[in-house]
Amino acid sequence: MRHPLVMGNWKLNGNKAMVSDLIKGLDNALAGVEGVDVAIAPPVMYLDLAQQLLGKAQNKIVLGAQNVDVNASGAFTGDISPEMLKDFGATHIIIGHSERREYHKESDEFVAQKFAFLKEQGLTPVLCIGESEAQNEAGETVEVCARQLDAVIKTQGVEALLGAVIAYEPIWAIGTGKAATAEQAQEIHAAIRAHIASFSQNVAEQVVIQYGGSVKAGNAAELFAMPDIDGALVGGAALDAEGFAAIAKAA
Ligand code: G3P
Repeated sequence: MRHPLVMGNWKLNGNKAMVSDLIKGLDNALAGVEGVDVAIAPPVMYLDLAQQLLGKAQNKIVLGAQNVDVNASGAFTGDISPEMLKDFGATHIIIGHSERREYHKESDEFVAQKFAFLKEQGLTPVLCIGESEAQNEAGETVEVCARQLDAVIKTQGVEALLGAVIAYEPIWAIGTGKAATAEQAQEIHAAIRAHIASFSQNVAEQVVIQYGGSVKAGNAAELFAMPDIDGALVGGAALDAEGFAAIAKAA
């Protein structure tokens, strides 16, 4: 049985006061919410503060991060290693977000390298995949998602997906207010699962596939009612404690 995961990707937002208010507000708003894993990925600068606050929280909120680099230590100016993330209690690490693929030119192969590195360190990769608007209009959605997944499957084997999380985020739905409809998202989630099943039925049945892209309290319940949608990766709406908790409740 898959357990839904609702994760907040705070992106490049926040300061100490905001991190503190948001975590405390979220902890209050989550009272009584059960049956869903809840995670947050603040900017890496605030992991220390987030770890301290989550240690005092009443509810279990998993700590994540938005990125990792592919070196363990040494002369790699500005890089962050999995060990460093672990040191601050972060377990769920977002990789392959379309913003990193686009603005930092991260290739499928590079993202797959990050995936392997996180697994080696016992961390949970949250692997983002998804198509652009042009690719969507050209009918290439499933092909693009399959290619992004295959970079991991063909180098590490399909079993590597066990214990990892996949986040299907159509780029045209991110931050636009134009979410995929529940039916559209379900169709792609089912196709992604079928692609994984072509390698292993067992892995396909177990792997958590989140939807991301303009998820809000108002559309979460219908998305989560779909059989292949296992929670959400939430951007903008994760910056509001009540709104984010309402999304978690819907799961
Ligand atoms: O990773 C989450 C994301 O890209 C979706 O952002 O603001 O559309 O919920 P948003």
